[in-house]
Order: sequence, then structure tokens, then C-alpha cells
Amino acid sequence: MSKKALITGVAGQDGGHLAKLLHDKGYVVFGIVRGQMEASHPRYQAIMKEMPFLNIVMADLLDLSALTHAMQEIKPDEVYNLAAISHVGYSFRDPILTADVTGKGVLNMLEAIRLAGLEKTTRFYQASTSEMFGGLDYNRPDTGYTEDAIFHPRSPYGVAKLYGHWITRNYRESYDMFALSGILFNHEGERRGPEFVTRKISQAVARIKTGKQESIELGNLDAKRDWGYAGDYVEGMWLMLQQDKPEDFVLATGETHSIREFCELAFKEIGIEIKWNGEGAKETGVDAASGKVLVKINPEFYRPAEVDLLLGNPSKAEKQLGWKRKVDFPGLVKLMVEYDLKAEVGTR
Ligand code: GDD
Repeated sequence: MSKKALITGVAGQDGGHLAKLLHDKGYVVFGIVRGQMEASHPRYQAIMKEMPFLNIVMADLLDLSALTHAMQEIKPDEVYNLAAISHVGYSFRDPILTADVTGKGVLNMLEAIRLAGLEKTTRFYQASTSEMFGGLDYNRPDTGYTEDAIFHPRSPYGVAKLYGHWITRNYRESYDMFALSGILFNHEGERRGPEFVTRKISQAVARIKTGKQESIELGNLDAKRDWGYAGDYVEGMWLMLQQDKPEDFVLATGETHSIREFCELAFKEIGIEIKWNGEGAKETGVDAASGKVLVKINPEFYRPAEVDLLLGNPSKAEKQLGWKRKVDFPGLVKLMVEYDLKAEVGTR
């Protein structure tokens, strides 16, 4: 009998990568999608076009009864809770909804499993995040954040995710559930939403190359992130649920790079060298050959509290799971810009 997996957030970046991975491994894959869509709805059709094997389930993370019914009907072997309000900047604008969905939604998932009587059979993966660490000066281990590092979230999103992290651990300790969290550092790729900085840059670079855009506006160029490829990270999620006992794992590359570096490499892919002029909100990035301003700062993209530097230490996952990222930082930038260039010229 094939195993059954249920994914929340199946229409998001990681959901798509994971659904395909599990399908290839022979799972029957169910994906929770929000809304009241008929099969003729354009969004429903778009999801089915990309993942024709997917069994779509309509439910909302805020609706315990719908989640419980889904668990009772499907009786999944594995549940991957990837759904969330996941944009850090947005979470400052809508902190209450973020707390409800990103925080309490995790509790609803765990309760749904229990109410359906599946707490001894269903394995549960919670998408925890490096945003829980906060990246402040006092709390930045030289060798990167491990599973036991101190948490100091810096956004309503990070705080809500920390609730999800601890309630998952609490259900593991209280009810002996196979429930764990993957603490994932930033992971990007061709499925990334354009509201996140890497995709915003790769799409802008492709549009600048094809003459459809003049320049790009960004916020803080000096923040640093540990950026990997999303396709590598979903393999780690699956490996975590195949272990003999539930434990939390960090997935990261062990390298950190600034937004500025990402920009420089992305423009290099289209043969442009960026030179930086000025400081703070007046800084610009210009084409070294033509002098044209290609990068501007817009303080609208600054955050009320910033996570300055994230660096993860994936040694536990590498040792225990045998997991290792395959795509490196230059490879990630190249992959994203090439994908967006093809999309712009219509060859994708
Ligand atoms: N989004 C965005 N847009 N970010 C910008 C911009 C801009 O124009 N300019 C500079 N940045 C900076 C942000 O201030 C932040 O320091 C960094 O770029 C990365 O921002 P995002 O790409 O939005 O990602 P994130 O690091 O805040 O959060 C992502 O990674 C987390 C894991 O650490 C999200 O995927 C989260 O859901 C995830 O948990």
C-alpha cells in the first residue's frame, strides 16, 4: 500500500517541490488549499496543471473542524505543515492574522490529528524557521545557529513561528507524538514568490536585460542570509520524518551572504558590473560601464526591526540524516536569473 502524505501550503514554493518529491517516491499526495474553489476555478486548474497527481482538499488552518474532517478521511501517514503567513515585512502590517495562522494554525493541525485519533500513527513535520533566532549581536554563534541556540525573534512572524515550534515540541513530549520541526534557513529558487528579495532581484535583472524595466528599488542591502535552494531543503524535510525518533533539525548551507552580494552576482549573470555610490537611503548601484543607475534604495522596504545576519550550522542534519545541500550560492543566483530570463523572452 502506498503511503499517504498531506501537505498544507501545497501551492507555495516548498509545497510544490515537496509534492513532486513525494509523488516521485510513490506517495499518494493530498494538498490543503484555502478557498471555496470548484474544479473549474482558474487557481484550482493552475495547481492541477502543475501537479496533476495532487488530491486537493479545501480547508483553512483557522478551521479546526475542516482540518479534523480532512484527517479523519485521509488518515495520512505523514503531515507536512508548510502553510503560513510567511512574509516577514507583511507580518508587521497584519500581526493578528499572522499570530492566528502562523502560530495557532499549528495547534489546530496538531489537535486535528489528535481529534481524529491519529496521534500514534501520523507523523507531523512543522516548518520552523531561522527567523526565530533573530540574528542580534549578542546571539550570533561564530559557527552558526544550531538546534539548541537561543531564540530571539524580531518580527510578529518570528514570534508566531516560535509558538508553532514550541507547541509541536510540547505535543511530542505530552502525547508521545512523532512531531518535529525543521528549522530551515532561507531557501529560494524558481518557485519563490516575487515579494521575497532574491526573486525580486532575479526577475528585475531579467526585465532590465530585456528592456522592460529601468531599475530596481530595494531596502536594506547589508542584511545577510544563509541562502540555499528550496529543492534541496524539501528532501531534508522528508528525511526527518523517516528517522526512528522525532528530533528537530537545522537545514542551512553554513555560508552567509548580503543582499548586496546577491545583487552583484545577479547583474553579473547579464554581463553588468555594479559599482556602489553614496550611503544609506541615498546609495545607488550603477552600471560600471554606462553609469546608469540600476539599483535604488526605497526606505519603504526597511523593516521596523531587522534580522541583520543569519548563519546556520547544518552539521546535525548532515551527520544524522546524511543531508547536504547540492546547489551553492553562485549556482542559486545563476539558476534563478536564467529561469527568469527564459520567462521574459518566452522560451520557458
Ligand atoms: N522582501 C524584501 N524586499 N526584502 C528586502 C528588500 C526588498 O525590497 N530589500 C532588502 N531586503 C532584505 C530584508 O530586509 C531582509 O533582511 C532580507 O532582504 C531578506 O528578506 P526576504 O527575502 O523577505 O526574506 P526573510 O529573510 O525576511 O524571510 C524569509 O526567510 C525566512 C527564513 O529565515 C521567508 O521565507 C520566511 O518565511 C522564512 O522563515
